[in-house]
Amino acid sequence: MDLGLRGRVALVTASSAGLGRAAAASLAAEGAKLAIVARGPARLEETAESLRAGGTEVLSIAGDVTDPDMPARLVDATVERFGRLDVLVANAGGPPRGRASEVDDEAIRAAVEANMLTSVRLVRSALPHMRAARWGRICCVTSYSVLKPIPTLALSNLARAGLWAWARTAAADLAAEGSGVTLNLVCPGTHATQRTIDLGGADGPMGDPGDFGKVVAFLCSEPVGFVNGSAVAVDGGASAAG
Ligand SMILES: NC(=O)c1ccc[n+]([C@@H]2O[C@H](COP(=O)([O-])OP(=O)(O)OC[C@H]3O[C@@H](n4cnc5c(N)ncnc54)[C@H](OP(=O)(O)O)[C@@H]3O)[C@@H](O)[C@H]2O)c1
Repeated sequence: MDLGLRGRVALVTASSAGLGRAAAASLAAEGAKLAIVARGPARLEETAESLRAGGTEVLSIAGDVTDPDMPARLVDATVERFGRLDVLVANAGGPPRGRASEVDDEAIRAAVEANMLTSVRLVRSALPHMRAARWGRICCVTSYSVLKPIPTLALSNLARAGLWAWARTAAADLAAEGSGVTLNLVCPGTHATQRTIDLGGADGPMGDPGDFGKVVAFLCSEPVGFVNGSAVAVDGGASAAG
């Protein structure tokens, strides 16, 4: 199947490791040009070099995507380098563990900033370019907590549910205006990444980040033009289990 991504320009944030890097690698394998972002420059450059070694044009930008100014700067830098922006994969680091009655105001504000507002800012910054081109694919990396609350990750549950409410509203607007832009959430379950190790490992089977990246590339492809406002679980059934 031709995903129609050859020559497209994709911005993937939080992409020097884990699920973001896997999404970038899958988009690159389909022929997209890439802008990638992370805070740590060494791992970012290593990722950029590995993508370039496969023949991909890569712009790497070191920075914290949760800085309020950063989303607009990332979009501007991508368009300046490649002349367009077709695909946005909005990703950021996840919040720490905590049960609902334990998380304080400061932690809640930080989670909303990183896992809700950052994606909203990225989408808002990307949309003028996609609307002008009458084509765009946006995929926000969230968690299966959107579909089923995770008792020990109350911060993820609340911030990502807020993003989901906003994204559904935005997706409906984009469809109504005939924008040619789709906006979907991808909701990972436990995958074998550093974040999973940092949270203490997995109780059961883990997903392969490479497979997750392929699902993201598909959700950003030409044939998904009628998939809009969806929250796609990539969780091995975790959100379906009772
Ligand atoms: N892995 C899972 O099982 C799983 C399950 C559900 C949801 N998720 C969610 O999926 C997202 C990605 O998780 P992951 O497992 O891929 O994490 P990861 O393995 O820790 O990788 C995170 C990546 O994002 C970058 N990053 C983190 N914070 C950033 C920031 N503020 N600005 C720019 N770049 C940033 C990191 O590089 P630097 O540190 O150098 O910035 C790294 O490249 C998170 O929101 C996580 O909560 C993951």
